[in-house]
Amino acid sequence: MARRTKVYEGKAKVLYEGPEPGTLVQYFKDDATAFNAEKHQIIDGKGVLNNRLSEFFMTGLNAIGVPTHFIRRINMREQLIRAVEMIPIEVVVRNVAAGSLSKRLGIEEGTALPRPIVEFYYKDDSLGDPLVSEEHIIAFGWASQQDLDDMVALALRVNDFLSGVMMGVGIKLVDFKIEIGRVWEGDFQRLIIADEISPDSCRLWDAATGRKLDKDVFRRDLGDLSDAYTEVARRLGVMPRNSANIAKPTLIN
Ligand code: TMP
Repeated sequence: MARRTKVYEGKAKVLYEGPEPGTLVQYFKDDATAFNAEKHQIIDGKGVLNNRLSEFFMTGLNAIGVPTHFIRRINMREQLIRAVEMIPIEVVVRNVAAGSLSKRLGIEEGTALPRPIVEFYYKDDSLGDPLVSEEHIIAFGWASQQDLDDMVALALRVNDFLSGVMMGVGIKLVDFKIEIGRVWEGDFQRLIIADEISPDSCRLWDAATGRKLDKDVFRRDLGDLSDAYTEVARRLGVMPRNSANIAKPTLIN
């Protein structure tokens, strides 16, 4: 069978050439990695869940006028997306102290932050994605001041949207990471949300119990990652049909 041309393979996704110019097919793998891929495991069904969840969040963002790369879902593991020129920066927004912020600044995990904090990390696995400032980003030409202003505005809109959606299903959005790309429309460039938005790239805590429902379950060995993601999908009403994650087999007496 003729196989599509692979354009890029990352730790959790593969990109193939799309059916039309300016499009790509994004395939979600079952691989979970942490600590720059030092820790790696296959989690059955994770790709299916993240494909669905990223579709859900990106569709919602598109609907409220926050532009994303998402065009449509193709099947259980693949979605059609717009090809973008990726900006090599991870934009993190934090509402509650956790993870590397807690570690770096000695702020106890779970401490509410006085305002959302936006941080930038330079995407380079060989350097371990270091924290960088706006000064670095502009000086090294990774993005312009105008890009940065647009990136912060986009990230804060995503924060408001995701926080509201998650709070509606009893989940606190602690923090998240997005990646942003450029698209060209004639002579104009526009920034849009790319990559994925899923429990791989967010911290999600049950609002009542504090139970972690994100990739920290895997990073910190807290239990079954697929159960956590399935719970997020179930609460949002985006349970995939025909998925191994719908229900475990039960004995019928
Ligand atoms: P951090 O506290 O480890 O810096 O993570 C902040 C947020 O970014 C958290 O929601 C997890 C997400 N994240 C990624 O999506 N990819 C990464 O490689 C890292 C380190 C964090």
